[in-house]
Amino acid sequence: MDVHVVDHPLVSHKLTTLRDTETDSPTFRRLADELVTLLAYEATRGVRVRDVTVQTPVSPAHGVTLAHPKPLVVPILRAGLGMLDGMMRLLPTVEVGFLGMVRDEETLRASTYAERLPGDLSGRQCYILDPMLATGGTLAAAISFLVDRGADDITAICLLAAPEGCANLETGLAEVGVPVRVVTAAMDERLDENGYIVPGLGDAGDRLYGVA
Ligand code: URA
Repeated sequence: MDVHVVDHPLVSHKLTTLRDTETDSPTFRRLADELVTLLAYEATRGVRVRDVTVQTPVSPAHGVTLAHPKPLVVPILRAGLGMLDGMMRLLPTVEVGFLGMVRDEETLRASTYAERLPGDLSGRQCYILDPMLATGGTLAAAISFLVDRGADDITAICLLAAPEGCANLETGLAEVGVPVRVVTAAMDERLDENGYIVPGLGDAGDRLYGVA
């Protein structure tokens, strides 16, 4: 698994304000949106394109356009929805699939409660949106779901990641057998006893959607 921490002063600046407990929900949503666009720029460095020629007012010009099949963006409900607009700003023509995952508090296993995805994902570049890579359980389950549909090119975009979650994900992915890339704004210190990222930014879903 390849983990890419985006090292850019604007990324750090926006993330610092997101972490701040004084930041209200409207500001949090706006900054998360802007941060995702910056992360998406890095995450799509390998997006597949094909050659095209256009006519400028002066002459023909060779360039590129997104290849087919178009990439698939998959926000994980609920908090991943808050990352969708920031991603679509860069890739307005891509297809969006949805995955609802819930964690059983007794077994701690993540399961799927809703999905709206194409049946065959082979040959598609898939971008999963999940703000917090904490224990890695939800992301691992989402990746397995996509791989079961044939996906073999998966990038996860996360606002924050914890070392424990990355290690768990790496172990889980060994069984899945598909290389995965994680693009994040920061690798934080650790998880606390409740599975929250430290220092983190709290519950991303609650902060996005104004739940106190
Ligand atoms: N999910 C969150 O929203 N925040 C964390 O710190 C961990 C998981």
